Amino acid sequence: MTMTRLRTERVVIIGAGLGAISAALALAPRPVLMIAPEPPGQGASSAWAQGGVAAAMDAADSAQAHAADTVAAGAGTVDAAIADLVTQAAREHIHELTGLGTPFDRDAQGGYVLSREAAHGAARVVRVKGDQAGRQIMDTLIAALARTPSVQILSGALLTGIEASGGRVTGVEIESVDGSAPVIIEAPAVLLAGGGSGGLWLHTTNPARIRGQVIGAAARAGAIIADAEFVQFHPTAIATGGDPLPLATEALRGEGAWLVNDAGERFMTALHPDAELAPRDIVARAVFAERQAGRDPALDTRASLGASVVEKFPAVAEACARAGIDPVHGTIPVAAAAHYHMGGVETDAQGRSSLAGLWACGEAASTGLHGANRLASNGLLEALVFARRCAEDIMHGAGVPEAAPEIAVAFAAGGRRPASESVAALRRLMTDHVAVLRDGPGLRRALAGIAALEAVEPAPAFRTMTATATLIAAAALRRTESRGGHCRTDFPETDPAQAHRSRLTFQDALTIRADCAATETA
Ligand code: SIN
Repeated sequence: MTMTRLRTERVVIIGAGLGAISAALALAPRPVLMIAPEPPGQGASSAWAQGGVAAAMDAADSAQAHAADTVAAGAGTVDAAIADLVTQAAREHIHELTGLGTPFDRDAQGGYVLSREAAHGAARVVRVKGDQAGRQIMDTLIAALARTPSVQILSGALLTGIEASGGRVTGVEIESVDGSAPVIIEAPAVLLAGGGSGGLWLHTTNPARIRGQVIGAAARAGAIIADAEFVQFHPTAIATGGDPLPLATEALRGEGAWLVNDAGERFMTALHPDAELAPRDIVARAVFAERQAGRDPALDTRASLGASVVEKFPAVAEACARAGIDPVHGTIPVAAAAHYHMGGVETDAQGRSSLAGLWACGEAASTGLHGANRLASNGLLEALVFARRCAEDIMHGAGVPEAAPEIAVAFAAGGRRPASESVAALRRLMTDHVAVLRDGPGLRRALAGIAALEAVEPAPAFRTMTATATLIAAAALRRTESRGGHCRTDFPETDPAQAHRSRLTFQDALTIRADCAATETA
C-alpha cells in the first residue's frame, strides 16, 4: 500500500468543533492546519449542545460558588485548582463571545437570561433562544474563522494514528473518510480537539462519527489516559429509535418539566430531594431502570411549559416533530444515552498531554474539571478555556513560525475502512456490558469481546475505537466501587480509598484485556 509523507510547519488541530475553532482563532496569525471529517461546525458535538455555557454572570452568584458546585457534582475526584481556574475564566469568555456577536438571551435590563440545570446551586447557564446555544456559538466562531486566513481547513479526513518517537509526537496519520491509503503529516505541534466517545454505544446524543477515535489514537501513541471509566449518560435523549438520538435539554427540567412513567407517576420524587434536578447520573439511572422495567419513561412539559415549549425550545420541538411526537398535548418518550466522556487524554493546566508536542482540549481531554460526573453546561466552558490555554502554550513553546505555506494533501486509493458489522458489534458490546450499570463479569466479557473483534478487523480506524473501548472497560473493571457516572452493581458503595482520578496507558489496558481474553476463552 502507498503511504504518503508530508511535512508542515503549521500547528495541526484535529477536530472542527468549539475547542478546535477557538484554538485556531487564538493561534492566529500563527499558521494552522485544521483536519476533520466534516467542515467546521458540522458533525461536532458542540454544535448540538442545547443547554449553553455555565458562567456565574448574576451579581448574586460567584465563580467560587460555581467551582464548589463543580466539585460537588464530580463526586470526589474533581481537581479543585482546575475548577477554580475554569470557573474564574468563564465571565471573560462570555463577554468575548458576546463581543464576537453571539446573540445570548438578554432581559429587559440587558442582563443575561440564565437557565437552571441540575446540581447547580443557582440559575447559571447562559443560553441562546432556549436551546440554540451550541449552534449559535459555533455560527459566530465559524464566521470569525472565515475572516482568518492563517487557518487552512482540510475536511473529509479522519485521524487514524499519531506518530511519536522518544516520547515526542512528530505527526499524525490520516485517511479520507471514504477510505484511502494513509497520509502522514509531520508537524511541530498537534492539538487534539476531536470530541469524545459517545458513538461507542448504540444509544448516544453525539454526532454519528464520534466513536473515541481521537482518544484511542493518542493512547496508541503512548499518551496517558485519565478517568476513562467515567462516562456521562444523559437521562433525556428523545427515544425516537434513531441513531443518534436527539436531546431534550435538561433546561426543560429546569423550567419545571417532570419525568413520568406510563402510569403517570413522577418517579424522581421518591428517589432524590431535588427530584428531576438531581445530579445527572442519578436521573440517568432512574430513567434507565424505568425503561428496563418496561414502564416507558417520558418527559412531561405540559404543565410547566404548555404550548410555549415550541417557541422556547425550538430544537427540541423540531426533533419531536420529526419523530411524530407532540410535546404540547402529550409526553416526550426518553431514554438514557451516552452523552459525554469525562475521561480522555490526560492534560495539565496548560492542556499539555504526557507526550511532548501533543496538546488536547474539549471532550478529547481529561483536565480534571469533571471528575466522575460533569456538571451540566461545563463542557462548552471547559472547551473555551482550555482551547485558549493550549493555543497560548503552543505559541510560547512549540517553535511555530509566523507563517507557513498551505500544504496540498491528496489521498490515494487503498487502505481499509472498518466493516459496519465490526463497528455495530463493538457498540453492542459496550451497550450490553459497559453502560449505565456495570459488573465485573460483564466488563471481562466486554474486554474479551473487544479483543476478538480486533483480531478479525484490521482497519486502522477501527483500532482507534477499540483502543478507547478497551481503556474504558479496563478502567471500569479496575475501579471496584460506584462513583458518579460509574455504577458497579457488584460494588454499589463509594469507597473513600478510591476517591482519586484514574490513569491508564494503553499497554496497561491491554494487559488487563489479555487476562480477560485468556479467562473468557479458557
Ligand atoms: C443539556 O442541555 O441537557 C445538556 C447540557 C450539557 O450536557 O452540558
